[in-house]
Amino acid sequence: MTGTQTNLDEREIKRQVREFYDRVGWQEISDGLFQNARYEDLRPVSQEYIHRAHLRVKRHLAPSGRLLLDAGSGPIQYPEYLEYSAGYEKRVCADVSITALQAARKRIGDKGLFVVADVTRLPFASDAFDGVVSLHTIHHVPEGEQVTGYRELHRVLAPGRSAAVVNGWGDAPLDTFFVKLTDLIKRVRGAAPEKDHLPQEKTLGRGTFVKKRGYKELRQALSSYFPIDIYVWRTLGTHFLRFYIREEWAGRFWLKVLYRLEELFPRFFGKHGRYPLIVFSK
Ligand SMILES: C[S@@+](CC[C@H](N)C(=O)[O-])C[C@H]1O[C@@H](n2cnc3c(N)ncnc32)[C@H](O)[C@@H]1O
Repeated sequence: MTGTQTNLDEREIKRQVREFYDRVGWQEISDGLFQNARYEDLRPVSQEYIHRAHLRVKRHLAPSGRLLLDAGSGPIQYPEYLEYSAGYEKRVCADVSITALQAARKRIGDKGLFVVADVTRLPFASDAFDGVVSLHTIHHVPEGEQVTGYRELHRVLAPGRSAAVVNGWGDAPLDTFFVKLTDLIKRVRGAAPEKDHLPQEKTLGRGTFVKKRGYKELRQALSSYFPIDIYVWRTLGTHFLRFYIREEWAGRFWLKVLYRLEELFPRFFGKHGRYPLIVFSK
């Protein structure tokens, strides 16, 4: 494939991702609930586990400052997200989707600044932000530009401050095993498998482009630029939660046990679970 061809493909991927979020992902399906929430487990049984995972992000950010960057902010869809910028003067929401930014503006009004921007080419000065978060966004960037995305987040971070990034792993063998097992059970029962939650999903029809990296691959790719720490954000993916975590199977109890274990061994679960929290400083 030629360089020009690659650039074209990458541009086309980005165009499709933007269009997907503008037209589908950020359509409000009920008050404050977006189509994108179909990728989350919203049942009460999982609520506390998911809530506490969201709050983990805040631990790695400076509690206060002037500007917090939220790269790929979407509409700031979950209430916990507001916590991250509570001690900051402004939250700068940067996203390729104008629909996302309009919804984010509705949510935080004057507290926010809203910028249509690509995480791989941030239109901000170096060292501009006292804190940086980017959640579930870099996996939408074409593979060849993902490292550039991380480097951009690092570039705009102020010295002495830190960034917290969440993206799923491409290879979480335990979770993948259970996803496949679930699909098998569903097939045996005659129900359709939910293909759009498979970790290596790369569809442009039902969802949009996603490319997730593996643990070693990511560490290696970033090693020549800056050190990263990898902690757990959440061990369990939505597939697993929806199928195996049930009220009648003491689901709340098992999630409490898992949360405790994650707190005790954050690096282990960060490496082997579905979603790591990637932290770096400058
Ligand atoms: C899965 S959503 C996550 C949104 C939000 N961070 C959250 O956790 O709810 C991904 C978001 O990233 C945005 N996005 C995708 N590619 C991007 C890029 N190259 N630069 C900036 N934003 C991008 C999408 O428009 C979308 O709003």
